[in-house]
Amino acid sequence: MGGSQMASSQPVRTLDAYPAERSCPFSPPDDFERLRAEQALPTVPVLRGQRPWLVTRYEDAKAVLASPNFSARMDRPGFPLMSATDVQQLRAERPTLIRTDDPEHLQKRRRLTRDFTVKRINALEPEIQRIIDETIDDLLRVGGPADLVSELALPVPSRVICLLLGVPYEQHEFFQRKSAQALAGRSGVDDVAAALGELGEYLGELADAKRRAPQQDLFSRLVQELHVPGIVDRGELIDTAMTLLIAGFETTSNMIGLGVAALLCHPDQLEVFLAGDRALQENAVEELLRYLSIAQHPRQFVAVADTQVGNTLIRAGEGVLISLPSANRDPAAFADADVLDLRRPARHHLAFSYGTHQCLGQALARRELLLTYRTLFTRVPSLRLVDPVEEFDLKSHTRVHGFNSLNVTW
Ligand code: HEM
Repeated sequence: MGGSQMASSQPVRTLDAYPAERSCPFSPPDDFERLRAEQALPTVPVLRGQRPWLVTRYEDAKAVLASPNFSARMDRPGFPLMSATDVQQLRAERPTLIRTDDPEHLQKRRRLTRDFTVKRINALEPEIQRIIDETIDDLLRVGGPADLVSELALPVPSRVICLLLGVPYEQHEFFQRKSAQALAGRSGVDDVAAALGELGEYLGELADAKRRAPQQDLFSRLVQELHVPGIVDRGELIDTAMTLLIAGFETTSNMIGLGVAALLCHPDQLEVFLAGDRALQENAVEELLRYLSIAQHPRQFVAVADTQVGNTLIRAGEGVLISLPSANRDPAAFADADVLDLRRPARHHLAFSYGTHQCLGQALARRELLLTYRTLFTRVPSLRLVDPVEEFDLKSHTRVHGFNSLNVTW
C-alpha cells in the first residue's frame, strides 16, 4: 500500500527497515532526526508488501493518537502488520485491549481503571517499597559484580505485578521466559503462539483456582465480578490477566535497567537526582521516560477516514505507524531534546502514548521507577558500571528496548 500525498512536489521518503539500528543505547536511531525534518511523512515497508506512513514528529503523533479517524483493529483492511506477534494476534479469537477501538475499548478498560489510580498506587507504596528493599538486600548479600537486570530490574516489577494480580511469584521464571518468547521481534508465528498458549493455559488454571477460593487480588476480583457468560467469558478474562502480567513487568524492568545506566553515564545528572526533593525526583522520572522512550515498536493504526497529518493526506484504508521515541526527541516539543536534563519540564512526553490507549499502568510504573532509582542510589552510593557503553548487552529487535543484562559493581 502506498500513500497519497497532499503536497505533491514532496517526494515520499522511505526507511529501509523498522526499527533501524541505534548508534547510542539511550537514543533512537539517527534516521529519525532526518525524517522529522522532512516536510512530508515517510513510508516504511512492513509485511504483505504494505508501506504505511511513519509519523516521527511530536505534534503529528499527538494528533493521530487523539483522533478517532485511526483504528487500532488489526482485522481492518490496510492495518500494517509488522511481526510474527502481530500475525499471531490477528489469528487469536478476540483482540486484546490495545487492539480494540472505542466504545468497546473504553468499556473493557473501565473494568480495570480502579486498580491503577494514583490513590490505589499511593496505598500500595509501602508494599512496593518493601519489595524494593528486600530485592536490594538480596543483591547486596550476593555481592558485586552482579547483573542488575536479573537481580533487580526484573524481580521488582515482576513481584509488584504478581502481588497486584495475585499470581504466585514462584512462577516467575516460567512467565518471564514465555513473555520474552512472545515479544522477541524475530520469533516465528508458531513460537509466539506456543508461548502465549502455555501462558494462557497457566492463567486459566489460576482463574479456576481463584473462582474456587477467591483472594484479595485483582485477578480474583475479575473472576468474581466479570466472569459472567455474555459479559466477559473465560477467554477474555485470561487475555486480560495476560496483558496486565506482561505489560506489568516487561516495560518497567527495561526502564529500571536503562534508567540506572543512563544516570551512571551522566554523573552530573545523578548528582541532581540525589540532591533533589521528591518533586524533582518525580520530574526526573518523567525526563528519563522521555529520554529513553523504551516503547520502540511503533504504535500501529489504519485510517478509517481521510485525514490530513502535517503536510500529508492519509487516506482511509492506509496504515500509519507512530514512533514514540522519535516524537519524544522532537526539538519542536523539547529544547535540546537529545540532552538528558532532569530539571526540564518533561511531563508532556509521549512515553506512555497519548489518547484513549495511553498506558493504563502509568501511575504504577512511575512509582516503581521513582522508588527503585531512589532506594538503589541511596543505599548503594558507590554503584558503577562494569562494561563500557560499547559493550552493553542490549536487546535487539524487541518491541520494548532494554538490556538483556547489565553488569554493575560497587
Ligand atoms: C515504564 C513502564 C511502561 C511504559 C513505558 C509503558 C508504555 C505503554 C505504551 C506506550 C502503551 C500504549 C500501547 C499502544 O498504544 O499500543 C501502553 C499501554 C498499556 N499499558 Fe503500559 N507502560 C508501562 C508500564 C505498564 C504497567 C506497569 C502496566 C500495568 C499493568 C501497564 C499496562 C498497560 C496496559 C493495560 C495498556 C493498554 C491500554 C489500552 O489499550 O487502553 N503498562 N503502555
